[in-house]
Amino acid sequence: MSFPLYAPAEEHDMLRETVRALADEKIAPRAAQADEAEEFPWDVYKALVAADLHAIHVPEQYGGAGGDALAAVIVIEEVARACASSSLIPAVNKLGTVPIMLSASEELKQQYLSAVARGDAMFSYALSEPEAGSDAAGMKTRAVRDGDHYVLNGTKMWITNAGVSEYYTVMAVTDPSAGGARGISAFVVEKSDEGVSFGPKERKLGIKASPTRQVILEDVRIPESRMIGAPGTGFKTALATLDHTRVTIAAQALGIAQGALDYAVGYVKERKQFGKAIADFQGVQFMLADMAMKLEAARQLTYHAAAKSELAMKGQPQKDLTFLSSAAKCAASDAAMEITVDAVQLLGGYGYTKDFPVERMMRDAKITQIYEGTNQIQRMVMARQLLK
Ligand code: CAA
Ligand code: FAD
Repeated sequence: MSFPLYAPAEEHDMLRETVRALADEKIAPRAAQADEAEEFPWDVYKALVAADLHAIHVPEQYGGAGGDALAAVIVIEEVARACASSSLIPAVNKLGTVPIMLSASEELKQQYLSAVARGDAMFSYALSEPEAGSDAAGMKTRAVRDGDHYVLNGTKMWITNAGVSEYYTVMAVTDPSAGGARGISAFVVEKSDEGVSFGPKERKLGIKASPTRQVILEDVRIPESRMIGAPGTGFKTALATLDHTRVTIAAQALGIAQGALDYAVGYVKERKQFGKAIADFQGVQFMLADMAMKLEAARQLTYHAAAKSELAMKGQPQKDLTFLSSAAKCAASDAAMEITVDAVQLLGGYGYTKDFPVERMMRDAKITQIYEGTNQIQRMVMARQLLK
């Protein structure tokens, strides 16, 4: 029996107000231009760092704000309500550093978590490759031991915030004979390591202000102390991380959907046809009701998964976290896609133009059904949990 672990505390409500105020003042006015220019919004990054909202999940002992999983969800949700690309700053900082929080040595935690907490560096997560996306264990990137170092070669693909991040959690094959998952280890690679380079920015449908690039590793020699956890545990660390961070992609989807719903509600009260506000038509009202209903259902599931994530992070394993984080990501992203399409519909022809934000929200929503595992993979993960 599950109890409502997801009820936000007063501090969470206050946090939401703070983030919303910052997003309204400093992020929303920049969102259309950042999308159009396809440029990483460094001013938004600086504003988030100044407010200590760029990586709220980092524990206090490493100089972080020590926010719980729900706090991270709220930050990402409220930033995404204004600008989905910008919400990848706190989301990917969390994705890149959770492997360290879960599995790294104390030395790596001190060094890397504190750099992220200070806002000196961002962290990305490099699992996918050109020929290994859904089947992540099919990766080819190799890390070969050489004395007390490892030498990495390979190409990681689709890496969010590649180039703007200083640090990368990279999964690579250390023992091909172990076969797939069991032969993979995780490492910290630095942008400044010799042999690290980046591919051109992908030209994307949405989240255009967040760079997505290949991370190319050519004879990158790093000390063995940069391995996260023991040899052969990298794939498990990568999947255990996603148990926590699929919740943050759900939060991003909720934020995008909330932004679109809020805009549509305001618009239908103003727009007049047939001599009255289009909000007076029941056909419009029913669409709004369905949008809000889907959003709230996804939000409850996401907060529930966040509460489980928090307990697991505190050392209390939650056997339903894998199911719930996949369910939250899948439900929230499907809801965001439907809600943003409906928001464009409610604005009619105006919704289809760049003069209004809903077309950007619709384009941005699509990625939430694809990354951190496509929604087919989420359904596979959920089914495996049900059938095991
Ligand atoms: N936590 C810890 N360990 C886990 C685990 C979990 N949640 N799930 C599985 N494992 C373990 C298994 O027990 C197994 O270990 P043993 O061999 O010791 O038994 C090992 O990991 C391999 O598990 P599977 O056999 O289930 O692995 P698989 O090869 O069948 O693949 C998968 C599983 C679910 C398909 C996985 O590959 C997957 O999630 N694919 C999608 C990839 C993905 O999500 N990529 C995200 C990239 S990041 C991103 O996109 C960034 C962004 O959004 C910004
Ligand atoms: P494929 O695996 O080739 O899938 C193609 C289609 O086949 C999909 O519809 C998929 O659902 C379906 N399919 C595959 N296998 C099955 C199956 N068993 N059952 C049913 N259907 C299946 N990765 C990172 O590591 N780090 C990042 O920071 C990162 N950021 C990203 C940012 C963007 C903008 C994008 C587009 C991707 C990013 N990714 C990142 C990669 C992302 O996680 C992968 O794109 C995703 O996991 C899908 O892999 P793929 O693109 O190779 O598609």
